[in-house]
Amino acid sequence: MRWDGCAAPEVQEAHEDCPEVNGLGVWPESFRSQGIGTALILAAEELVRKRGGERIGLGVDENNPRAAALYSRLGYDPVVPYLDRWSYQDVEGVTHEVADACTFMIKKFQPDSS
Ligand SMILES: CC(C)(COP(=O)(O)OP(=O)(O)OC[C@H]1O[C@@H](n2cnc3c(N)ncnc32)[C@H](O)[C@@H]1OP(=O)(O)O)[C@@H](O)C(=O)NCCC(=O)NCCS
Repeated sequence: MRWDGCAAPEVQEAHEDCPEVNGLGVWPESFRSQGIGTALILAAEELVRKRGGERIGLGVDENNPRAAALYSRLGYDPVVPYLDRWSYQDVEGVTHEVADACTFMIKKFQPDSS
């Protein structure tokens, strides 16, 4: 959880400090499609609810429609496109800047939900 929200300025501007599930992944791949990802997301939602939060968000790469479909099924709506900026160093020590096109998705909790 990133409690102070997504690092991208586009997301902060539109949805300041929305708690974010960041870096979700299930490994090894053979463990996927068994409900583990769903259970992790529901556990994150419970953490937010316990803090009195009313919304939770996550970012999904535009090239990951299956993950986006999963989040939609769980009640997340796309709210703002943004660039996920990160960098890495190759074996020669050269730094490469990367910007992945993503969509931030948010789920709002109903006041009467547990
Ligand atoms: C996305 C991910 C976390 C979902 O976890 P999971 O344990 O497979 O999720 P669940 O079993 O609860 O739900 C599976 C559903 O997620 C969707 N899904 C998304 N990405 C998937 C993937 N790479 N493989 C299988 N299912 C995927 C499918 O619609 C699938 O539906 P199905 O079970 O009817 O086939 C997991 O697939 C993963 O680690 N993918 C690679 C990393 C990644 O893309 N992370 C998301 C970053 S936003």
